[in-house]
Amino acid sequence: MPLEVAIIGGGIAGLTLAAALQHNPNLRVNIYERATELKEIGAVIGLAPNALRTLEKIGVADVLTDAVGWRNPNGIPMTFAHYKTGEVISRDFFRNVPDRRHHFARMHRARLQQGLLKHVAPHVIHLGKKVASVAAHRDQGATVTFSDGSTINTDVVIGADGIKSKVRQSFVPNHTLSWTGDVVFRTVFNYSLVEDIPNLPQNSTHFTNGLDFFFATRAGSDQYAVTATFIVDPRTDHQYSETDWNKSASVDTLRERYASWNSLVLAIIDRIPWVRSYTNIAGRVLDQWSFEDRVTLLGDAAHTHGGAFAAGAALAIDDAYALSLAFEEVFPSSGGIVPQKSVPDQLLRVFDLYEAVRKPHSSKLLAIVEAHRRNNLSQLAKRRSGHGETDEEFRKRYTARMDATWLAEHDVEATFRKHVEVGNVAGKGNSATVEEKITTVPGKVIVEITEAEVHVPARATL
Ligand SMILES: Cc1cc2nc3c(=O)[nH]c(=O)nc-3n(C[C@H](O)[C@H](O)[C@H](O)COP(=O)(O)OP(=O)(O)OC[C@H]3O[C@@H](n4cnc5c(N)ncnc54)[C@H](O)[C@@H]3O)c2cc1C
Ligand SMILES: *[C@@H]1O[C@H](CO)[C@@H](O)[C@H](O)[C@H]1NC(C)=O
Ligand SMILES: *[C@@H]1O[C@H](CO)[C@@H](O)[C@H](O)[C@H]1NC(C)=O
Ligand SMILES: *[C@@H]1O[C@H](CO)[C@@H](O)[C@H](O)[C@H]1NC(C)=O
Ligand SMILES: *[C@@H]1O[C@H](CO)[C@@H](O)[C@H](O)[C@H]1NC(C)=O
Ligand SMILES: *[C@@H]1O[C@H](CO)[C@@H](O)[C@H](O)[C@H]1NC(C)=O
Repeated sequence: MPLEVAIIGGGIAGLTLAAALQHNPNLRVNIYERATELKEIGAVIGLAPNALRTLEKIGVADVLTDAVGWRNPNGIPMTFAHYKTGEVISRDFFRNVPDRRHHFARMHRARLQQGLLKHVAPHVIHLGKKVASVAAHRDQGATVTFSDGSTINTDVVIGADGIKSKVRQSFVPNHTLSWTGDVVFRTVFNYSLVEDIPNLPQNSTHFTNGLDFFFATRAGSDQYAVTATFIVDPRTDHQYSETDWNKSASVDTLRERYASWNSLVLAIIDRIPWVRSYTNIAGRVLDQWSFEDRVTLLGDAAHTHGGAFAAGAALAIDDAYALSLAFEEVFPSSGGIVPQKSVPDQLLRVFDLYEAVRKPHSSKLLAIVEAHRRNNLSQLAKRRSGHGETDEEFRKRYTARMDATWLAEHDVEATFRKHVEVGNVAGKGNSATVEEKITTVPGKVIVEITEAEVHVPARATL
């Protein structure tokens, strides 16, 4: 009998995993999603080269078209511009992305979701199923309880239920999320609304004063998007304390917030038809991602980094691929029926491999988010007391930003293969150290995590 795999959450992580696993005859996948309909909530999402390459490997090439995703004509992922003068102060570059289709792509979240949906059999998606809690026992399997009181028993549970995950909460009740101090105003609209603005950025641009951002980009072939992030003080600005992806906000708030910014920003704001606000929340690194050798976490549920570097969707896609590779390693599609007796041991091996590949990577990001939060709050305090950084200091800090290609061009499959090799040795009781250095440049927020211990426990037997 195939293993029953219940994926909780039909967001980016859950759908990608289902698309990647569904051809494995050893697994029977079902998705349980809270929403009653997968409709157009949300705004623009960025997919870095790592995610586009992964989607291609999974066979989801639909979202790699220019109709779905916008790629910058200048061939670079991001331009940073001075908030007041509009002059370019810094740029991000690709290191190794020869194929233009893998260039950073900006798209409406709904189009990504729709693209993924085409690769998942409709009958495996169960809508209107809101999970209340999950219980698991190594030898007995897992039970999912829904808020309507119904339950299911299953072999495996994958918590892909987003940053406020109920699956995570069931096993790590003391993990907390806190407001980063950022508020994000988001909108996506028809490109024709802004088309005639002179010098409208065609290359995705972050206007910034060092603390607040106004990100303007085209999205797909026919939309334009704005993601405006500004820092407030979570201790006093309580009007933003609630998190909801569809919370209506006022364009006038943007107009006030950005009143002193350059005329291009103001011209774009004048055309914005609607806007939603979202309060950024984040939490710490979890001690472990799997529980009772029956349950694991995926995407935002596993690493609560908030919206940092717009990396959430790309990380979720790589998480899903890494987990699918781990399943394939332990329960090969060609390998026939699985003897039930060894299932928890085999799942342990799947989860250990997956966690070894993904946790050090996303933990680095969480460390950076934490450092940024501390810096932002201290900058804000200084600014309010009239001692904020000078224009010159801010420009200097910006040109010395972290090179984020370790994130955007990460090769999850190569990392996976490396760990499988290491794992073969680790099966005999060894552990190995994989060195992954964050490239830092002088003057930048110091986040030095030079080594990640990769420990594949000896008890994981194949
Ligand atoms: C409605 C929505 C809109 C978003 N809009 C944006 C955006 O505009 N820009 C951006 O950068 N990021 C947005 N995000 C977040 C972004 O999708 C994620 O950060 C990233 O893609 C990681 O994906 P994920 O699958 O881990 O989490 P998510 O994409 O958050 O998916 C989680 C899924 O689980 C479902 N779910 C949650 N709780 C339960 C439960 N108890 N039972 C069953 N199902 C549950 C959710 O409905 C959702 O479909 C949005 C998320 C959501 C849910
Ligand atoms: C975008 O980049 C291209 C190529 O460098 C350049 O020609 C163009 O002027 C830029 N356009 C805008 C409006 O940002
Ligand atoms: C939560 O509880 C676990 C187990 O008791 C402990 O190891 C962990 O440090 C706690 N985490 C936090 C954030 O308090
Ligand atoms: C966008 O606006 C143009 C021009 O008004 C229109 O032709 C097109 O249908 C609109 N697209 C969408 C998706 O609404
Ligand atoms: C999102 O908010 C808008 C405006 O408040 C509303 O019309 C729409 O129905 C909401 N969508 C969902 C799915 O709740
Ligand atoms: C503030 O946080 C943002 C991310 O939300 C980051 O890009 C920025 O560099 C931070 N600023 C400082 C001063 O650390």
